[in-house]
Amino acid sequence: MALVEKFAKPVLLFSFAIGTSLSQPNNILAREVRVFSGRHYNTDRQIYKRFAEETGIKVRLIEATGISLVERLKREGKNSKADIILLVDAARIHNAAQAGLLQSYRSKKLDSVVPEEYRDPKGRWYALTRRVRVMVINPQIVPTNEIKTYKDLAKPSLKGKVCLRKRNSPYNQSLVADQLVLNGDTSTRLWLKGMLGNVSQPYFPGDIGLIRAVAQGNCGVGIVNHYYVARMLAGVNGKSDQALAKKVNVITPNPAHVNVSAGGLSRYSKNKKEAIALLEYLASPNGSMGLAGPTFEHPLVGYNKSKEVKKFGQFTPDGVTISQLGNFNSKAIRLMAKLGWK
Ligand SMILES: [Fe+2]
Repeated sequence: MALVEKFAKPVLLFSFAIGTSLSQPNNILAREVRVFSGRHYNTDRQIYKRFAEETGIKVRLIEATGISLVERLKREGKNSKADIILLVDAARIHNAAQAGLLQSYRSKKLDSVVPEEYRDPKGRWYALTRRVRVMVINPQIVPTNEIKTYKDLAKPSLKGKVCLRKRNSPYNQSLVADQLVLNGDTSTRLWLKGMLGNVSQPYFPGDIGLIRAVAQGNCGVGIVNHYYVARMLAGVNGKSDQALAKKVNVITPNPAHVNVSAGGLSRYSKNKKEAIALLEYLASPNGSMGLAGPTFEHPLVGYNKSKEVKKFGQFTPDGVTISQLGNFNSKAIRLMAKLGWK
């Protein structure tokens, strides 16, 4: 009962429409597309605006956190007004597909612009942007050359120096899923045991707090998404975060675990044609760059061109597909819980 009540009110953090009917004064049934987005970046609106201007299709944007968005869609079922669902992280989009919130469709355009490893084999979702799980170190505490990859965080020399975000973060769930796919059970278990044994601080609720803690010397090393460091470096979060970000070094493992933000066609979409047109627009080289540029993510193909991200060095994806990350999600969570990842 408590759960039903909790979600009884629509979780609508932000709603807004882009586009104009002035250009089509006689069009009574203006074409539109409703985007339910778990991406929470103001800069995304620019790209919706461009799409609306170019196509005359109005974009209605409803933003909420990934979890409340999914809960809302489940609750509304057939009455849902969503045409497109955008979520960050492989685990989230995979779970949305598993819950039947998305529908399969094929688009030649999408198949040609989204590399195979970044789309659902069943055509329920396509990635739009990429993010890399990197490590941040405080060089005063941990020598930079001591760490090259995630596995190094299990080294006994790092006792008490490792900081991690909480288990409920899909970002870390996907990292563990990634390691399970690449290295198998036994090796992943050993890595986790060693790394979790090196943790002394309470687990962090977010990547930004973790970066601050590393910069302030409360931790020697941690794992975060690259764009958080870039945003801090660029001064997006203010001067004090900018100063802190300058104190950490970013280590990009080679190869690296790559995650995505992705979008799919909502199961009960009433504006299917318009929705597919928008997804094709967002996944196109210009669209993907338009989403990824201002947020310091990477586009689907190529790299973010900001000086902040360039500093982290190029990366080679480790080849694990987004679909594999999703398939290994529940196994990853079980293993993390069992070994004491809080
Ligand atoms: Fe994020």
